[in-house]
Amino acid sequence: MTTNPFTHRHLLGIQGLSPSEIGFLLDLSNGYVDQNRRADKKQSTLRGRTLINLFFENSTRTRTSFELAGKRLGADVINMQVSTSSVTKGETLIDTAVTLNAMHLDALVVRHPDSGAVKLLSEKVNCAVINGGDGCHEHPTQALLDALTIRRRKGRLSGLTVAICGDVLHSRVARSNIHLLNIMGARVRVVAPKTLVPAGIERLGVEVFFDMRAGLADCDIVMMLRLQNERMSGNFIPSIREYFHFFGLDYAKLAQARPDALIMHPGPMNRGFEIDSDVADDVERSVIREQVEMGVAVRMAVLDILTRPDREAV
Ligand code: CP
Repeated sequence: MTTNPFTHRHLLGIQGLSPSEIGFLLDLSNGYVDQNRRADKKQSTLRGRTLINLFFENSTRTRTSFELAGKRLGADVINMQVSTSSVTKGETLIDTAVTLNAMHLDALVVRHPDSGAVKLLSEKVNCAVINGGDGCHEHPTQALLDALTIRRRKGRLSGLTVAICGDVLHSRVARSNIHLLNIMGARVRVVAPKTLVPAGIERLGVEVFFDMRAGLADCDIVMMLRLQNERMSGNFIPSIREYFHFFGLDYAKLAQARPDALIMHPGPMNRGFEIDSDVADDVERSVIREQVEMGVAVRMAVLDILTRPDREAV
């Protein structure tokens, strides 16, 4: 049996993980991809365990795939509706965490609009906490599922050139991917208008391009990002029409990338804003639906690994 190098109590971000920890999670996820393609997808690894999804922001992919992941591993899964919870009566994040903790959870998945909120919460509970996205900070399981998608298609991460394009400024997906791809030896570019690039991003080990055609030249992966209007205060782009003209992914711009370059998008997509609909649906090049499939497997691996210490202690 392979030694488990993953010794963290929580998964709060990609930053700080080692190549062997990431590699181990991806290998474990790969096995769950096979399980999820079988008719009987269920096993009892987490039987008797309880998972709560606590989402303070909307989600389709992350919340549903964590629910499926928990159920396929045999756990009891509760999706807490924040809009009908006592949060609406003024209960704080910490009091909510302490209240849930008293119910003896085994894992808590949290999405919150504030960067750092998930870490704060993790300090108040006894169970494993997984960051389902905190503000503009990190979305670690998204980066892991993106890495799994790339690794299965390209056979490696190391040495690939990945262009992350669009609203980098407001994107936790971009940050987690930049960390993971750098840790695993890929070359990372960010491609965006100046208004959507955080100051000093070069310090994270990326090359910055303000011209989409130059940024996509000979890259292996084109990773598009949504314009995160919900995090914007003020105008960051002149108009959607102009943004699409210069930074929307269409076949003319894609022609600069390698002929076998993969098209990725974490979703939800805004078709016609950051990506042309035909490009998004191109069955030869786009792996957007595969990313969703990988999401369930990665979340099963994360739940499995983070609950192992408690399971092994029984
Ligand atoms: N990619 C992603 O986090 O999607 P959801 O917001 O639907 O979870």
